Amino acid sequence: MASVFLSKIVLVVMLMSNCAVTAVLGIRNLETTSSKAAVTPNVPKGELNKDIIPAFVIFGDSTVDAGNNNYMATIVKSNFRPYGINFEGHVPTGRFTDGLLVTDYISQKLGIPMQLPYMSPDAHGERILSGVNFASSASGWFDNTAKHFNVMGLDTQLEWYNNWKTEVLQLAGPTRGNFIISNALYAISTGTNDWVNNYYLNLHLQNEYPPDKYTTLLVENVRNYTMKLYSMGARNIVVLGLPPLGCVPSQITLHGHGNSTCVKRLNDVAINQNNQIISTIEAMKKETPGARLIYTDIYYPIYNAFQDPQKYGFKYARDGCCGTGDLEVSVLCNRVTATTCSNPSEHIFWDSFHPTSHFYSQLADYMYNLVKPIILAPPNP
Ligand SMILES: *[C@@H]1O[C@H](CO)[C@@H](O)[C@H](O)[C@H]1NC(C)=O
Ligand SMILES: *[C@@H]1O[C@H](CO)[C@@H](O)[C@H](O)[C@H]1NC(C)=O
Repeated sequence: MASVFLSKIVLVVMLMSNCAVTAVLGIRNLETTSSKAAVTPNVPKGELNKDIIPAFVIFGDSTVDAGNNNYMATIVKSNFRPYGINFEGHVPTGRFTDGLLVTDYISQKLGIPMQLPYMSPDAHGERILSGVNFASSASGWFDNTAKHFNVMGLDTQLEWYNNWKTEVLQLAGPTRGNFIISNALYAISTGTNDWVNNYYLNLHLQNEYPPDKYTTLLVENVRNYTMKLYSMGARNIVVLGLPPLGCVPSQITLHGHGNSTCVKRLNDVAINQNNQIISTIEAMKKETPGARLIYTDIYYPIYNAFQDPQKYGFKYARDGCCGTGDLEVSVLCNRVTATTCSNPSEHIFWDSFHPTSHFYSQLADYMYNLVKPIILAPPNP
């Protein structure tokens, strides 16, 4: 109970500081641009390349949002410093990290340009043939989660996907266009906000659904949205599981009773949901001929790094780089009221909620190695 109220206070603080900080950040917003860097390294033989995976299409939340929220009337933004200090040109693009996201690193590995946010005015023409990014920070599997923050849930993201398909077919013609749509790699990275920015702040939702029922609802959405994406033409679909919710710095601060260790109760919620997603995806393989449905665990990569940071090249696990590292995220992580650590790469977490670019690069290696053999093997019969 206490922690629910504490979370509410934090939310109120976030809302209040928004007013005070906006004046300063308003100026900073001018610095925001969409990412232009087109990285096209030579991809060695036997690896995935743009002839196999011509495009990368991204759905989800702030773990993969490349700047869509910049264009929305929401407080959930990161298009100001210190976000982006390690991005090319030190530009705060709206990515919730210091540099590149996991999806950006994967695009580099595929040898295709990084995907522009769908809302960007630049996201038209040739550039979208290698995919686009539909993710919106603060959204979840449950559309109600996005509504609280006036951002776009998966319902809207899939409508946008339909528009993208139409534009691809117009630009590339039916043969090439359909090749792009059915051979693209699709990723859905979401789910944390359904719990930490919705359920645990929302007594009404808690009264309506006990935790188990809520998990069932979320997993039903995983199934429905993955099936919908398949029915719309996607074939190579990566579904990410939940991270260890209890190891996220802000959650240790809010729910950890003063301990610096991961909150087991929250981690158990994540493990339980992940197990149900795994069996749901497994069952769906029989109903999705021609598809490759790939569940990607991110729980253990993060949990293991948290337990033994040195082993993975990090010095700090519990504290993010921005501010105290315990609570600052979005408007609270800004260069006016929060200091930034000297070397983000030593931290697993950038702010109290999101990993650093250094951690994302490791996660990208792990995901690429997991996905590659599945893509190179035949799809579901
Ligand atoms: C999932 O789809 C089924 C079948 O269309 C529907 O009955 C159910 O209400 C959907 N679940 C959610 C959570 O939207
Ligand atoms: C702090 O963590 C220890 C070890 O996990 C645990 O035994 C203890 O109950 C925790 N204390 C509180 C107040 O939660």
